[in-house]
Amino acid sequence: MRTTLSVIKADIGSVGGHTLPSQRVLEVVRERVFAERGKLLVDAYVAHTGDDVCLILSHHHGVGHPDVHALAWEAFRAGAEVAKRQGLYGAGQDLLKDAFSGNVRGLGPAAAEMEFEERPNEAVVVFAADKTEPGAFNLPLYLAFADPMYSSGLLLSPDLHQGFRFRIMDVDYTEGDRTITLDAPERLYDIAALLRDTHRYVIESIWSRKYPQEQAAAVSTTRLRNIAGRYVGKDDPVAVVRVQKIFPATEEFGPPFAVVPFVAGDTRGSHNLPLMPVPINTPASTFFCVPMVSGLAFSVHEGKFTEPTDLFADPFWAHVRDRAAAKALEMRRQGFFGPAMLPMSELEYGGIVARLEALEKEFVVSREAEPAAAGQ
Ligand code: 13P
Ligand code: MG
Ligand code: MG
Repeated sequence: MRTTLSVIKADIGSVGGHTLPSQRVLEVVRERVFAERGKLLVDAYVAHTGDDVCLILSHHHGVGHPDVHALAWEAFRAGAEVAKRQGLYGAGQDLLKDAFSGNVRGLGPAAAEMEFEERPNEAVVVFAADKTEPGAFNLPLYLAFADPMYSSGLLLSPDLHQGFRFRIMDVDYTEGDRTITLDAPERLYDIAALLRDTHRYVIESIWSRKYPQEQAAAVSTTRLRNIAGRYVGKDDPVAVVRVQKIFPATEEFGPPFAVVPFVAGDTRGSHNLPLMPVPINTPASTFFCVPMVSGLAFSVHEGKFTEPTDLFADPFWAHVRDRAAAKALEMRRQGFFGPAMLPMSELEYGGIVARLEALEKEFVVSREAEPAAAGQ
């Protein structure tokens, strides 16, 4: 049985700042989406990470299906209407275009989708991040799929031993999808050379090499500024990952996320702070909106979900969060300085550009005095 997972996420308004959606907004979105269970959809799950509402949809219509995308769009629109009526902050924030044209891509919401032949014991994970960018997933996914120091399956399982194929997108390119496909382990250094630039190169998908038809991961690649032409919030990403057997095990994603790497995002989407793994339905942090990631694992059978297990809710993660908090506190001590704030290339869609342009007029150029002419 071929099943499609469509994970579509948007910020449609939040309570008291960029914190979390209101209960009423969530209810309205759930009503819309759940009404299609057993019709357009097989199953659905709705949760939030920070101020982003995430729809996890299963169906049999394939990737990018207009009806599934229209449902997500309409559910978000209905939620945004409620957000407006409640006076929520940033009501409809990620719904950047008025007209829906068959797919939410390019309209604001983040979408990660995958179609696959269901295994009898299909296990999937959905990662949803708030206050950061799609490139935040580059390191954890690289470590889980390509680094034997983290991914023990690469050594221990004949199914994983050939490695994985990475499709990486240049998200600065706006004329179409500009991608490169590189095989790990042979092209490991090339993969790393691209993935280190998280603002520009983003893992779009990962595939098994032993079973080339089997897709392991899909990541949303939306850059809101490329759609809006200005800063309108961060490009808070989602990823869907198949796990177990011919893929890394669920728990092999733990140590990569426990690195809590510094990523772009947080307050005004303009700084670097560690990516903190949090339980699902966690509000954004008052500590400078530290970037956060949630993980839900489901078993899927004939398109139906079990209840999820919350990957960052077990006791171990309290210690990891403490480490992330320590890193965040340390970085924030240096305020605007150096790597605490993003480079100008990433800030150019915000207000600092106008400020620097205004300062241009106040610059003076002084040259060394001309040497006095001989004999004078
Ligand atoms: P969001 O992208 O999550 O709305 O956050 C925006 C922001 O600027 C937080 O400070
Ligand atoms: Mg917001
Ligand atoms: Mg958000």
